[in-house]
Amino acid sequence: MTNTAETRIAVIVGSLRKDSINRQVARTLAEQAPKGTHFDFVEIGDLPLYNPDLEDGVTPPQAWTVFRDKVKAADAVLFVTPEYNRSVPGALKNAIDVGSRPYGGAAWTGKPAAVVTVSPGGIGGFGANHHLRQSLVFLDMPVLQQPEGYIGNAGNLFEEGKLTNDSTRAFFKAFIHAFVAWIGRVGVTKQAKAA
Ligand code: FNR
Repeated sequence: MTNTAETRIAVIVGSLRKDSINRQVARTLAEQAPKGTHFDFVEIGDLPLYNPDLEDGVTPPQAWTVFRDKVKAADAVLFVTPEYNRSVPGALKNAIDVGSRPYGGAAWTGKPAAVVTVSPGGIGGFGANHHLRQSLVFLDMPVLQQPEGYIGNAGNLFEEGKLTNDSTRAFFKAFIHAFVAWIGRVGVTKQAKAA
């Protein structure tokens, strides 16, 4: 946690699409958050594909350094992503790989995380959600377990960027409040361990 009362959450959106439903969901989650929560949308679309040769013994691409620094500055990470072919989009996996290096200095380590998957399909990106969780286990990120965030049939959720469904808005509010509470609990645990 930071020394200020504010909780800083890095938001990673797995879609690069201009009109992404996932980005609209991420914005709506941020709007529903408790006071004192700050969201920093960290972009992944311009990260060069991870290749160790680009940083072993040489200065890494600036985009990687900027990305890593933004993740490191956050107290926690919220992932909101579509499912591509029953897994995460390649751009998101690349961002995870970039943030995981250099070896021993991963930007992700220990940061509480939450995963929301969003799809026009009926099963809400379940496959992507759990593939992503597999990486987060290895990266030592304690992930919010409940509520789970599978947002299915999302094709008509927004009109002109506004959420049309009150029960979904209530779910988003419950989800983001549970996440902020989770960040508080995990942060306290980590501080106690460090003392
Ligand atoms: C998809 N889509 C998709 N949907 C899903 O529920 N399961 C899947 O496995 C896939 N696979 C898939 C692969 C590729 C390459 C594309 C481009 C799309 C559909 C996807 O959910 C849909 O395009 C969403 O609207 C993407 O989210 P954004 O971009 O609107 O946030």
